[in-house]
Amino acid sequence: MASSLSPAPVPMELHVLNREKLLKSIRQHLTDTSRPLNGFVFLQGGDEQTRYCTDHIELFRQESYFAYLFGVIEPGFYGAIDIATGKSILFAPRLPAEYTVWLGEVKPLSYFQEKYKVSMACYTDEIAGVLLDQYKGSGKPLLFLLHGLNTDSNNFSKPAEFEGMEKFETELSTLHPILTECRVLKSDLELALIQFANDISSEAHIEVMRKVRVGMKEYQLESMFLHHTYMYGGCRHCSYTCICATGENSAVLHYGHAAAPNDRTFKDGDMALLDMGAEYNFYASDITCSFPVNGKFTSDQSLIYNAVLEAHNAVIKAMKPGVNWVDMHKLAEKVILESLKKGSVLVGNVDDMMVERLGAVFMPHGLGHLLGIDTHDPGGYPKGTERPKEPGLKSLRTSRDLQQGMVITVEPGCYFIDALLVPAMENAHTSKFFNREVIDRFKDFGGVRIESDVIVTANGCENMTNVPRETSEIEAVMGGASWPLNKK
Ligand code: GLY
Ligand code: MN
Ligand code: MN
Repeated sequence: MASSLSPAPVPMELHVLNREKLLKSIRQHLTDTSRPLNGFVFLQGGDEQTRYCTDHIELFRQESYFAYLFGVIEPGFYGAIDIATGKSILFAPRLPAEYTVWLGEVKPLSYFQEKYKVSMACYTDEIAGVLLDQYKGSGKPLLFLLHGLNTDSNNFSKPAEFEGMEKFETELSTLHPILTECRVLKSDLELALIQFANDISSEAHIEVMRKVRVGMKEYQLESMFLHHTYMYGGCRHCSYTCICATGENSAVLHYGHAAAPNDRTFKDGDMALLDMGAEYNFYASDITCSFPVNGKFTSDQSLIYNAVLEAHNAVIKAMKPGVNWVDMHKLAEKVILESLKKGSVLVGNVDDMMVERLGAVFMPHGLGHLLGIDTHDPGGYPKGTERPKEPGLKSLRTSRDLQQGMVITVEPGCYFIDALLVPAMENAHTSKFFNREVIDRFKDFGGVRIESDVIVTANGCENMTNVPRETSEIEAVMGGASWPLNKK
């Protein structure tokens, strides 16, 4: 199938607005803390990396905070925003003459100024001189540098460094929390890009569903997805490494990495769990579809699939501003446990199961995470909020209340993972809940995850992902029906 979509031109106003948003927030913060409204926000963009000691250059993708503010696709840049005047300045590397021969035209500074809609463009060897020249305050100008913890990776962002830095005062604590908070609520222009990433990725998931045949390799599904999103969406990057798990592999939450490279041949009766999302102009999508590779759900597959689908739908129905994400996680757990009880996988009182945190045995990951320029977008745990400590809840990438303009994934799952099931079945507090005979049937089942990307709106939410979700819809589409079904 070709595509009804085509990549739209990306308006650089998006990044102009992002800078204006930051400027407003940082000026407000400085006013609130009785500090002068001058100095510069100063960031260093990403650099190209080679593969170990070789001259093979890995495909460059801009650092996310820098991408947010400047939209620059080229490596080796710096960017400044003058807090007093609001002027934005990009610093481009001065490229050698031979660049033209090997890598193409050396662009003039005016090209970058125009393309990225900044007030000025200069060279990186001019940073100190230009900033000192622009500064109208007294004493050494203050640079607000980016330094702070990413609460998903536990890595710190790297503050900018440049020659002549000793001529400036530097400050590491202000910028990161403010800029991170700017990224949490998306503008309409940002939402349009996340929507396009969702549209092309949804279409690609459907294409894969239609082409799956028993006996294929998992990587063939990955390849079909990548082809569709690149061929028709111009998406050169994925938001993350594709997870194309079938059979037992679908219980490995982050399958698909170098040591588990989507290389299993799948067989009749297997479930597939495909977690794949394209990135468009830095903005991510993150979508999971689960389905039987032969196109027909068995009753056991329907039981687990519908348990997860009911949780997915219950959360989306409950989402609106003010709702707490930990409560949504617990809602998903409860719906799954109730379904497992209805299907006789579990026995006993579901509230008692919740007290024992049994949900975490079947869904050890968090319900979902903020999504934006990063798949796991930052801002999940701002200062003053704490990560829960209980099993399952501690995997949540945010514990925040929902706010209008957030984009968050809703990705409940139910997995049969021996490493979690066996201890829970032996545990004095939880062993009574398991129906061993039925659990045995699911020994090699793997798992199901259903993941959609959802915008929080003024009164509720809106699902940006558009793929078949009901078992009957999946069976129809896998059997060749068009999507949406009523478009036949
Ligand atoms: N694909 C990674 C995640 O769902 O968080
Ligand atoms: Mn996700
Ligand atoms: Mn995912």
